[in-house]
Amino acid sequence: MNGNDDFINCWNEILVPKWNRFRHILSGNGAVHSDMAFDDFAIRPGDKVLDIGCGYGETCLDIARIVGPEGEVFGLDCTQAFLDIANKERDESGITNVTFALGDAQTYDLPENYYDVVYSRFGVMFFQNVVYALKNAHKALKPGGKLCMIVWRTLGDNPCWGLAKDIALRHLPPPGDNAQTCGPGPFSMANEETDRGMMKAAGFEDVVLFKRNDAEVCVGTSLQEAVDFQIMVGPSGEIIREAAELGKEKLPEVRQDMEDEMRKTLREDGVYLPSSTWFIMARK
Ligand SMILES: C[S@@+](CC[C@H](N)C(=O)[O-])C[C@H]1O[C@@H](n2cnc3c(N)ncnc32)[C@H](O)[C@@H]1O
Repeated sequence: MNGNDDFINCWNEILVPKWNRFRHILSGNGAVHSDMAFDDFAIRPGDKVLDIGCGYGETCLDIARIVGPEGEVFGLDCTQAFLDIANKERDESGITNVTFALGDAQTYDLPENYYDVVYSRFGVMFFQNVVYALKNAHKALKPGGKLCMIVWRTLGDNPCWGLAKDIALRHLPPPGDNAQTCGPGPFSMANEETDRGMMKAAGFEDVVLFKRNDAEVCVGTSLQEAVDFQIMVGPSGEIIREAAELGKEKLPEVRQDMEDEMRKTLREDGVYLPSSTWFIMARK
């Protein structure tokens, strides 16, 4: 068992039920950013595309519509339960040029010089060794092919996650060194210099886009759902889960503080908070 197996187990054993429950929020927020990124990434009809850490495969279906019947999309993810849903929805959509496989993006045996695009929306930040995964992606790209990634910027630039984390930390300790976690974490690629260094180490010398994208996202379709979401998912959910009994004991106070704060940005159709990502593109 290595660290990466632990992360993969965390996705399969801990996160699946929570992600399934709040998929409309998580994928909805992802789509806010990925829909905006398609113009910049300029994926073309006929392209062969690999989507790493594809989750439920929504972006694979989006991309399949862009590349059309001459192109193809391969979605790779380490969580079987997400891929079961991805396969079912692909079949229901009638799209025939998308395939999915279970595997670790760092070590999966990919064809060499094959893809026009390696794409990832919020996937790479969870790989234990991003450089290994990017090296694998680099090998799989054709010369001139492009790596297209969407990653979260800093927690401070993402009140959609940071607000609830700060509240949880008012009442509970941060997760310890042995916390069960889903990987380096959502903000592990927030630093531009680090990302450029990792891409360079993986062989991507030519970074052609590094663009900040800000958008308000919905963290719950009601105040109640927004609080439930933050208690179960993301950095605040991890703090509460890892605090075990103390987490349960303090939950009423955490819940009350979250409700008070998030009521301030409650609209008719839900709670909205600012979010911020990087759109990154590099050529082989
Ligand atoms: C935050 S989710 C993003 C999912 C999807 N791209 C989206 O935007 O909705 C991160 C995904 O990465 C996957 N993942 C984590 N580590 C991985 C690895 N080493 N190899 C492949 N997939 C991995 C998880 O199973 C999860 O589906």
